[in-house]
Amino acid sequence: MNNHWEEELIKQMRKFYLIEEQLGKMLPEHDLNHAIRVRNLCLWLVEKESLTLNQDALIAAALLHDIGYISDDSSEHISSSVRFSKELLPKVNFKKEKISLVIECIKNHDSVPGRLGWKEKVPIECKILRDADAIESVGYLGIIRSAMWGGRKQIPIYTKSKKVDNKQSLFPNIDLLENIEIRSKELMVRCFTKTAFKIMKERIGIMETIINGTKQEIEFAEKEVKKNGN
Ligand SMILES: [Fe+2]
Ligand SMILES: [Fe+2]
Repeated sequence: MNNHWEEELIKQMRKFYLIEEQLGKMLPEHDLNHAIRVRNLCLWLVEKESLTLNQDALIAAALLHDIGYISDDSSEHISSSVRFSKELLPKVNFKKEKISLVIECIKNHDSVPGRLGWKEKVPIECKILRDADAIESVGYLGIIRSAMWGGRKQIPIYTKSKKVDNKQSLFPNIDLLENIEIRSKELMVRCFTKTAFKIMKERIGIMETIINGTKQEIEFAEKEVKKNGN
């Protein structure tokens, strides 16, 4: 960490997350560690792809993109993240002229093609943030993070009937495993860098193995064991 503002920003953010923890409202899949990992993945992608961009804006957007979950555990977290960013960045002496780029990255970090709010033309910093955040949503970690979110939203793990009626889920009427499958494919379509594409492809493969294995285990217990009376 080379920037004074970054150190100060993390210090300020830590205070907010600490309060959440003390209130018993911590969301482990969207905590400060997720923000720091996304920041690190962003810088890794920049290096791997030899990109020239506004690194300060990218770091700030990566750190702040999900802070809104503190006050809003939904897709609306984005407007909340924007509010936090507008409040925190001037306080840590972040360059004023870069704030609008940070905000644009945060505003567009979550959308995917074909869904509400999708914007194709976004700054490169936003594309890198999307890629880094998407990497966090796949693989072993992706499964665990999704399961934590799904548990909180009371989404059934797997239902063969596909008649889940849960208006709170990201994709209503489908179970957690299908949520994960759909989401990871959508993130893959949106992928910008070759580096992210490669790592995501590998990790989606891991996810598929886990998802198929989970389905088999559930179906075995629901059908076979019952049928055999064991
Ligand atoms: Fe987000
Ligand atoms: Fe995120």
